[in-house]
Amino acid sequence: MKLLYEGKAKKIYEADNPNEVICEFKDSLTAFNGEKAASESGKGELNCAITTLIFKALEKEGIPTHLIKQIDSTKLLVKKVDIIPIEVVVRNIAAGSLSKRLGLKEGEKLPFTIVEFYYKNDDLNDPLINDDHAMILNLVNDRKELDILREYGRKINEFLTKFFDKIGLTLVDFKVEFGKDKDGHIILADEITPDSCRLWDKKTGKKMDKDLFRFDLGDIKEAYTEILKRLKEVK
Ligand code: C5P
Repeated sequence: MKLLYEGKAKKIYEADNPNEVICEFKDSLTAFNGEKAASESGKGELNCAITTLIFKALEKEGIPTHLIKQIDSTKLLVKKVDIIPIEVVVRNIAAGSLSKRLGLKEGEKLPFTIVEFYYKNDDLNDPLINDDHAMILNLVNDRKELDILREYGRKINEFLTKFFDKIGLTLVDFKVEFGKDKDGHIILADEITPDSCRLWDKKTGKKMDKDLFRFDLGDIKEAYTEILKRLKEVK
């Protein structure tokens, strides 16, 4: 298979159909823009299965995604898209960079859900941007596309909040990425996994996401395995 691109957590290979690519989930773990790095054997497999489950559920809710099918334990066949270089972050509860930037206590419920845009650029450390910044950087064609990103972010949040609630998890915040398919339609791409979400156990309050790795709080494999197990039980 011809490797087209290698990122921090995924490899993208050419597929037989020019409108499709193969996305492989790696075992590598990175945080703080690659400053902290490690590898956890089996993590790629867990995240591949978790993304597949979540993307299939979102498709049923009318949210278009790049997923075509799972090929093997770590690989997905996906629609080829031009990734929009904006990380869309949706937050329900204060944590992470929001707490740090605005001095909000971790765990504080926000009065309403907020959506933020970050410019996907490692050299600049993925800075927080507003709509004007996105426009002057030509990250999208027009402001309507930014509204579409926000709307999808909120719709995904509404669905996932309930979805995770059913399995005893609080969805604190998450990041999603979108791309444009061959017809120019905006669809959900990349992944939704405990690497890209904050998920807290409702009973114990324990963190079950990448913060375990970021702050050396515990075993991510155990947590991700538990999340996959619970997701498989969602009715
Ligand atoms: O670090 P911060 O609080 O801004 O992260 C918000 C959410 O977005 C978290 O769930 C985090 O895991 C996710 N995120 C991500 N990739 C990034 C930045 C944040 O998945 N590059």
